[in-house]
Amino acid sequence: MSDIQLNAEIPGLHRYATGKVRDIFDLGNMLLIVASDRISAFDVVMPNGIPDKGRVLTQLSRFWFLHLRPFLPNHYITSDMHFIMARLEEAGVHITPDLYRRLEGRAMLTLKAKVFPVECVVRGYLAGSFWKEYQEAGGERHEVTLHGVPLPAGLRESDRLPHPIFTPATKAHSGHDENISLSQMRHIVGEEMAERLKEVSLELYEAAAERALENGIIIADTKFEFGYHQGSLTLVDEALTPDSSRFWDAAIYTPGQPQPSFDKQYLRDWLLASGWNRQPPAPQLPAEVVRGTAARYREALRRLTGIELSGA
Ligand SMILES: Nc1ncnc2c1ncn2[C@@H]1O[C@H](COP(=O)(O)OP(=O)(O)O)[C@@H](O)[C@H]1O
Ligand SMILES: [Mg+2]
Repeated sequence: MSDIQLNAEIPGLHRYATGKVRDIFDLGNMLLIVASDRISAFDVVMPNGIPDKGRVLTQLSRFWFLHLRPFLPNHYITSDMHFIMARLEEAGVHITPDLYRRLEGRAMLTLKAKVFPVECVVRGYLAGSFWKEYQEAGGERHEVTLHGVPLPAGLRESDRLPHPIFTPATKAHSGHDENISLSQMRHIVGEEMAERLKEVSLELYEAAAERALENGIIIADTKFEFGYHQGSLTLVDEALTPDSSRFWDAAIYTPGQPQPSFDKQYLRDWLLASGWNRQPPAPQLPAEVVRGTAARYREALRRLTGIELSGA
């Protein structure tokens, strides 16, 4: 079942939004969120799809939404295909075996929420842009304060932080997400909500990181989105997938260097080496890079949930 799906069309349903990766359809008080096999890097969608990627994202999000439900309400209703097809039929959609096949494993019925325009990033380890910030601030020589949090001197790349820290970003509609300070975040969502989002983000990260470690995966960092649904703060979008998180293999974790990860770092490395200038259009990806990326996504799903997608 490794047919690549780049774009979900459901004749008869109103499209609610199209993201870089997801096609979202409106079902009144609910949404049908369909994860495609599109992959973006440096905020540009690649011409190729990654086989099974959409299914990996949906199955992993489902796993985390169920696991994290005791901590905070989330938008997940079901990915049960019989239930979903029945709702689509009620909405006037003509049901065909082909539609079933195209949605199976990648569609998720959710609550419709009013989404806060901030990305709630939590970091447990010193990686990526945060490692760069730490170095630029002189962290290798003296204590530094980053995003309002004091950090000791002499941490190495990929080191575990003394405490997970919250580094919010704007949810840019086009272009790159930008880090914002907590006070900028207070302006956007209000003082009380900023504090609340920070607290729940840290709490969800810690619960997930602990669970993932049982399966030998380190969640180095992740990004959450939240919204309001009927007056309740609700976790929305995707949860703890390789698109929103850095996953590392705990068995080979070696601080002092970058870690191999289950996310699209492999693709990013190839793109950088290819000399592409990061402006659209992105280059066609070689079969080898597509295969390697697919394998990493499937492996993340298998390790965390035990679900095996057959692969091609
Ligand atoms: N429950 C929800 N209610 C309304 N909007 C949602 C909900 N869950 C996710 N979204 C929005 O749907 C989009 C998901 O599609 P995605 O391809 O991930 O977009 P992006 O390119 O912004 O990452 C995001 O804009 C997200 O904010
Ligand atoms: Mg997204």
